[in-house]
Amino acid sequence: MAVVGAGPAGLLLSHLLTAAGVDCVVVEARSRAYVEARLRAGILEQPTVDLLRAAGVGERLDAQGLRHDGIHLQWPGERHRIDFPALTGRSVWVYGQTEVVKDLVAARLAAGAPLHFEVSDVAVHDVGTTSPRVSFTDAGGTARRLDADVVVGADGFHGICRPSIPAALARTWERGYPFAWLGVLAEVPPSTDELIYAWHPDGFALHSMRSPSISRLYVQVDATERIEDWPDERIWEALQTRLGLPGWTLGTGPVLEKSITGMRSFVSSPMRHGRLFLVGDAAHIVPPTGAKGLNLAVADVAVLAEALLEFFSSGSQTLLDGYEQRALDRVWRATHFSWWMTSMLHTSGDGFDARLQLAQLQQVVSSTAAATVLAENYTGLPHALVG
Ligand code: FAD
Ligand code: DHB
Repeated sequence: MAVVGAGPAGLLLSHLLTAAGVDCVVVEARSRAYVEARLRAGILEQPTVDLLRAAGVGERLDAQGLRHDGIHLQWPGERHRIDFPALTGRSVWVYGQTEVVKDLVAARLAAGAPLHFEVSDVAVHDVGTTSPRVSFTDAGGTARRLDADVVVGADGFHGICRPSIPAALARTWERGYPFAWLGVLAEVPPSTDELIYAWHPDGFALHSMRSPSISRLYVQVDATERIEDWPDERIWEALQTRLGLPGWTLGTGPVLEKSITGMRSFVSSPMRHGRLFLVGDAAHIVPPTGAKGLNLAVADVAVLAEALLEFFSSGSQTLLDGYEQRALDRVWRATHFSWWMTSMLHTSGDGFDARLQLAQLQQVVSSTAAATVLAENYTGLPHALVG
C-alpha cells in the first residue's frame, strides 16, 4: 500500500496497517522537522484518544495531555460552563497536533517502516486499475516508483491526490466566511482551567492552551487583515476586551508565534476513485471553531483502516465499497457542527444577527437538551456511530 502525506491522517493509517502486517510506504513532501513543528490543532476528542491509545501511541498523550471535562461559553458579562461527562460521559484532551505527529513518526521509525520525507514530483497513476502506482523523486534526487494494491491520498487540501480524480466525476460543496482567526502561541500559564469560547460585539475570541505553561489564543479578524497590522500589544488588547469579565484578568507573556488562518467549509466527493482513497483534509475542510479538523481526519482513518484490513486479509471489498458513505455521514455531521459553532460565535451581519446569536447561546447554556447536542458533537460521536 502507498500513502501520500505524513500528516496525522497518513501517519495514523500507515501505523494501523503496518501493525497488522500490511506493507505500507509513506511519502511526504516536507521534512521531518517541518511536519513535527507545524502548529495546528490542539483538541483531541474522546474517540480520537481511544483510537490512539488502542493503537499503542497513547503513552505520552496520557502523561502530558490535559483531560478537559468542559468548556466555557461567554458573552459580555456572563460565563457559563458546559459539563461534558455529565451530559455525554465523554471528555476531550488538550494535546497538540505537533505532539500527535511526533508520536506517530517516532513509532513508525522505531518499527523500521518506510517513511520518505522531502520527496518531490509525486504523482499517482492507474488508480482506475487493480495495480495503481505512485511515482516520486526521493530526497537524494533519485526517481522512484511504488507499485501498490491501494493508494491513499492523505496529502491535505493542497495535495495532488484529489485533483487526480477526473473532474467530470467530482463534486464539491463550499462555504467561505468573511472572517479569519489570528492565533498566538504565548509563553504564559493559561488564565483558565478550561477553554473559553467568547462571543463579543468586536468579534469572537478563544482562550485555549497547549500545556500548563503555554497558552494558545485566537481572535476573530477580517479575512483581509494582515499580520503586520497586528503588533502584540494590539492582540493582547483585543483579547482582554473580548475575554474580559469583572474579577478576571488575562495573563500575558512573550508571543512565540502568530499567524492568520482563513476559514472555509469544503466537502469533496467522491472520496474514492478506483483504488485511490482520500482521507482527512485531502477530502474536506471545516472552519476551526469546535476543533473538528484533525478529529475528522482520524475518523476517516478509523473507517478506512477497518475496510483495508478486511481487504488485505480476505480480499473482500465490501467494507471498501462502503467507505465513502460511512465517512461522508460523519463528515457532514462535523461540517454542520463546525458551521453552527462558527455562525453562533463570530460577529457578522447586523444587530438582528447578534440578537439571534445571543438567543442561541442563551439556549445552549440553559437547556440540557441544547447543551447535550453541543457536548455530543464537541467530545466526538463514537466512530461506529453518526447520529
Ligand atoms: P495535513 O495535516 O494537511 O497533512 C497532509 C500532509 O501531506 C502534509 O504533511 C503535507 O506536507 C503532505 N503533502 C501535501 N502534498 C503532498 C505531496 N504532493 N506529496 C507528498 N506529501 C504531500 N484543526 C483543528 O481541529 N483545530 C485547529 O486549531 C486547527 N488549526 C489549523 C490551522 C491551519 C493553518 C491549518 C491548515 C489547519 C488547521 N486545522 C485545525 C485543521 C487540522 O490541522 C487538519 O484538519 C489536519 O491537519 C488534517 O490532517 P491531514 O493528515 O488530513 O492533513
Ligand atoms: C484550538 C483550536 C480550535 O479550533 C478550537 O475550537 C479549540 C482549541 C486550539 O488550537 O487549541
